[in-house]
Amino acid sequence: MTSERDTDRYQIEREIGRGGMGRVFLARDARLGRHVALKMLPAQVKHDAEISRRLGQEARAASILNHPGVATVYDFVERAEDSFIVFEYVEGKTLREQLGVHRFSANEILSAGIQLAEALAAAHDQGIIHRDLKPENIMLAPGPERPGRVKILDFGLAKMHRPLTASSTAGGATAETLSVSTTPGLLVGTVNYMAPEQLQGEAADARSDLYALGLVLYEMATNINPFVGRTPASTIASILHQEAPPISKCNPLAPPELDRILHRCLSKRPGERYHSARDLVAELSKLRRELAEGSDSSKVASPSLAPAVALAISRGRARALMMFIQTGYLVMYASELYKVHEVLRVSRELYFSEFLGYLLTLAAVCGAPVRLYLLSALGFDYADLGEKFRRLFPALLVLDISWVASPLLFLGQLRGLTLLCAGALAFLPFAQRTVLYAAYAPTGGHTSAVQQKLAG
Ligand SMILES: Nc1ncnc2c1ncn2[C@@H]1O[C@H](COP(=O)(O)OP(=O)(O)OP(=O)(O)O)[C@@H](O)[C@H]1O
Ligand SMILES: [Mg+2]
Repeated sequence: MTSERDTDRYQIEREIGRGGMGRVFLARDARLGRHVALKMLPAQVKHDAEISRRLGQEARAASILNHPGVATVYDFVERAEDSFIVFEYVEGKTLREQLGVHRFSANEILSAGIQLAEALAAAHDQGIIHRDLKPENIMLAPGPERPGRVKILDFGLAKMHRPLTASSTAGGATAETLSVSTTPGLLVGTVNYMAPEQLQGEAADARSDLYALGLVLYEMATNINPFVGRTPASTIASILHQEAPPISKCNPLAPPELDRILHRCLSKRPGERYHSARDLVAELSKLRRELAEGSDSSKVASPSLAPAVALAISRGRARALMMFIQTGYLVMYASELYKVHEVLRVSRELYFSEFLGYLLTLAAVCGAPVRLYLLSALGFDYADLGEKFRRLFPALLVLDISWVASPLLFLGQLRGLTLLCAGALAFLPFAQRTVLYAAYAPTGGHTSAVQQKLAG
């Protein structure tokens, strides 16, 4: 039990995050005059002596880790009213927060990968395994270069068991992760980034961390965790039985060598992965050198080694633009349906037939639900929207090409501009395709012409 002086030592300033184990606060360590992060532990920790003892033991073991790539554990405080772990406070954003808004270049992925693998190597040397490496546990500290200094949180801390939550939403970026326990009462990771052997109840070792790191880097390259399904059960099945698609399918600019390295990390059998984090550091560093030499030399680098360029538009902006376009279509459809009698009349008067009027009415009736669906998919930021859009595209193209005829109704008022408006409407479906594929990788689909051009 901690003394009164210890209790007063940490002055909480504000909440900085929430996770599966509880809330995290920024606090001031009055004794040493520095900021720290306090991770408050759930009530069951203090009620269950065994869990509390084991967590304390793990926190103390992790506290010997002293590496710039690891947020150091300073203390484990047990009090009558609550218990908490005291961590080094890391400024910056989590990788999870950055994944949605920033497209990482090959160079950034390699730099983060090398830093993370070096931190893992230092921990593994001390016999400490992370067991729960995931974008939420990686901080990108601000630095002169992107991605800046990378730090791993929660090293070596097994977490408390919490009820299985099957409320996984598609995409998984914001999905609640299922907790799986292999030791009664203790949780060893969250399912989305768990290695197959962890899911099968085997003990995690250094190679399980390399698997998770490979998956994190894969997600940096593609914006997608390839194993996340609609339900935790389907995620587990994918992790155990499915191979991740080549990263070039989602990001044609990624170097094929990176694909080879990440797929080796993602091997289902631990024996087929890198033997140690140091081996991975060596491979990633070699690739980074080759890329640098390729871009330094006056000769044009082979396209396969050209570093990926960050796309000009962020996913957030692309979504906003796409939602704006969908709303525009909905407004046009609504006006058409509201004025349907006028539309039929104008069609009859101008073209001696109601065909144009009926065509546009049909397009509006069919188009409205499709646009509403796209709006909701964009609003909820479905991770596989690229794939959904690719499937929908042929139907959407027919719909939008029919809609190109709508300016013909205004022939009397617009005259020559009619053709211009029709041209702009014809351009819209292709523009949407490019925007969407730039922001959401077209998983399993063809790459957009723009991306292929950039890659070539
Ligand atoms: N040492 C730290 N410095 C700065 N921010 C931190 C620190 N530790 C945690 N955070 C912030 O608090 C958030 C919640 O952390 P926490 O570890 O509780 O949750 P999590 O990693 O999302 O889930 P889990 O409980 O599975 O680890 C983190 O995502 C991060 O934003
Ligand atoms: Mg965490």
